[in-house]
Amino acid sequence: MSKLLSPVQIAKLSLKNRVVMSPMCQYAVQAEDGLLTPFHFAHYLTRAMGQVGLIITESTAVTPEGRITNNDLGLWNDQQADRLHDLITQLHQLGAKAGVQLNHAGRKAADAKTPVGPSDQRYDDSYKQPHPLTVDEIHTIVDEFQAAAKRATKAGVDVIEIHGAHGYLIDQFLSPALNQRHDPYSGSLQDRYRLLHEVVDAIRREFHGSLWVRLSLTDYMPAGQQTSLSEWQRVAQWLQRDDVDLIDASTGGLFPKKPDFPVHDGYQTRFATALKQAVDIPVATVGLLDNPGLAEYILQNRQADLIVEGRALLRNPNWVATADIALHDHQLERDTFNHSYYRGMAEH
Ligand SMILES: Cc1cc2nc3c(=O)[nH]c(=O)nc-3n(C[C@H](O)[C@H](O)[C@H](O)COP(=O)(O)O)c2cc1C
Repeated sequence: MSKLLSPVQIAKLSLKNRVVMSPMCQYAVQAEDGLLTPFHFAHYLTRAMGQVGLIITESTAVTPEGRITNNDLGLWNDQQADRLHDLITQLHQLGAKAGVQLNHAGRKAADAKTPVGPSDQRYDDSYKQPHPLTVDEIHTIVDEFQAAAKRATKAGVDVIEIHGAHGYLIDQFLSPALNQRHDPYSGSLQDRYRLLHEVVDAIRREFHGSLWVRLSLTDYMPAGQQTSLSEWQRVAQWLQRDDVDLIDASTGGLFPKKPDFPVHDGYQTRFATALKQAVDIPVATVGLLDNPGLAEYILQNRQADLIVEGRALLRNPNWVATADIALHDHQLERDTFNHSYYRGMAEH
């Protein structure tokens, strides 16, 4: 039996397998009210029927101005929380665990009238110039993360993932290149970590489930213009100390810059493995892990603890069944829930 498809107890969480659906914005909220739509229900429930162990819903804004676009989901009011509760209940009924990714897009809030950030540097010419946050405004955003976590807790989520990656607000504060303020949120690595620390702390006041943080472990910038891997290892240790249960290791997004090496299957896993050397909490890996054999290799060799699938699950909601066949597990026969679809996936 593969490790990928075996049940696992990880980060206060029992999962039926090690496959996690990566948060992926669908930009499908046409009403611009941040509410889950019938499309989102169909989208996520289909992946639950496809036997994904944990589904993390897409980037969900803690405040309207924190949306990447106005077509994003939000969790700044109770109606949004009620809808999320319905989705989580249905995901649970289908045997999946469920998480929400909380985010503030900062200077990358493309539709915000005036985006905000640590400084007034814009992402590129197509983005608006951000307003540098005052300390009071930072405190308000921390409160908004806390309020969203309270709603997520009421909605019944198993996991909250803080989006600390891909160049959104928390990542902007972590960056030495972008965060050049003159207050306690800027300067040393520990000061740049302050916003994330306060967000973790605020969420922990409301949520006692599995708390994850997604980080971008390189900006593909020259050394000296970005946080080094050994500094990220220190950040990971602080997160562990701050009662975070898992780190989800990603890369990029802070600048319009692509990887500085040829992108290949599992190209981000090296960063997850580097973090594993520094912390005792589990680390998840994401990025071109479509090949189940590679996913299993990574787990067997303890390079990461969970496999996060993005585009593979957009293309194929039954990716777990595909992996079951590729790894010769024959687990689907024993899996009663997906029984209705079993004949469609059988080898013969
Ligand atoms: C359509 C799309 C939307 C995405 N939205 C998010 C998001 O909301 N939050 C996030 O952390 N990453 C987001 N990502 C990145 C994915 O979660 C994932 O890290 C990336 O696609 C690499 O994994 P993959 O090769 O398995 O797709 C998005 C990716 C895609 C393709």
